Amino acid sequence: MLLEVNQATKLYKRGTEEFKAVDNASLSLNPGEYAVINGQSGSGKSTLLAIIAGLLNLDSGQASFDGTDIGTLGDKKLSALRNEKIGFIPQGQCLLSNFTIIDNVALPGLLAKRKNSRERAKALLDRLGIARLANQYPARLSGGEIRRAAIARGLINEPKLVVADEPTSDLDPANSLNIFELFNEIALSGAAVLVVTHESQKPNGCHKRYLMNDGVLLLES
Ligand SMILES: Nc1ncnc2c1ncn2[C@@H]1O[C@H](COP(=O)(O)OP(=O)(O)OP(=O)(O)O)[C@@H](O)[C@H]1O
Ligand SMILES: [Mg+2]
Repeated sequence: MLLEVNQATKLYKRGTEEFKAVDNASLSLNPGEYAVINGQSGSGKSTLLAIIAGLLNLDSGQASFDGTDIGTLGDKKLSALRNEKIGFIPQGQCLLSNFTIIDNVALPGLLAKRKNSRERAKALLDRLGIARLANQYPARLSGGEIRRAAIARGLINEPKLVVADEPTSDLDPANSLNIFELFNEIALSGAAVLVVTHESQKPNGCHKRYLMNDGVLLLES
């Protein structure tokens, strides 16, 4: 198993009240598996992805990647894991404003000392239809163009696991389809893909669909 989340619970406080943002959630993905998570706003999807990306600690349960408990890793190992093995595409704007688009996309590759990062970045920008914007700064881009650049950045190191949080929420139908097709190709090439989306139709090639409701995760199909 590449990713295994076991009875994960994350508590948050709202005022004096504590609630379970993620409630005893279990999920597993093999290499090459492609899964989506649906669920209403506020149901805990981003919290779950942040746990998988090692950005949040659990109150109980476990999340492991390639047999290693993510919660036991120190900062340095966690950063390396996130940079090299897990391609995390967060929900919000995450590009560095003083870097050009190509530099933003190539940066994780440079940090991992991987060769040909700029070439791979160019190819990804091309695949996502924004190659002409390579030398622009994020402030000059539209929301959907920024989103696509963030997706390219998450894929630059050819991660074993892609974790994407509503990657198509600000894209038109044709661009959304292109992203879901790219995820399908990535899964076919052997990586695992986990996508939070409000699209209720299973995308082409998708193996399983989870539904999150009030922190509770259910395998739907
Ligand atoms: N740091 C925090 N402290 C307290 N509550 C939080 C915190 N972060 C998120 N929450 C709450 O936890 C719940 C789950 O949030 P989360 O961002 O995981 O939802 P989501 O399913 O991703 O929603 P959306 O579809 O709107 O992105 C929400 O009710 C939110 O208000
Ligand atoms: Mg969210």
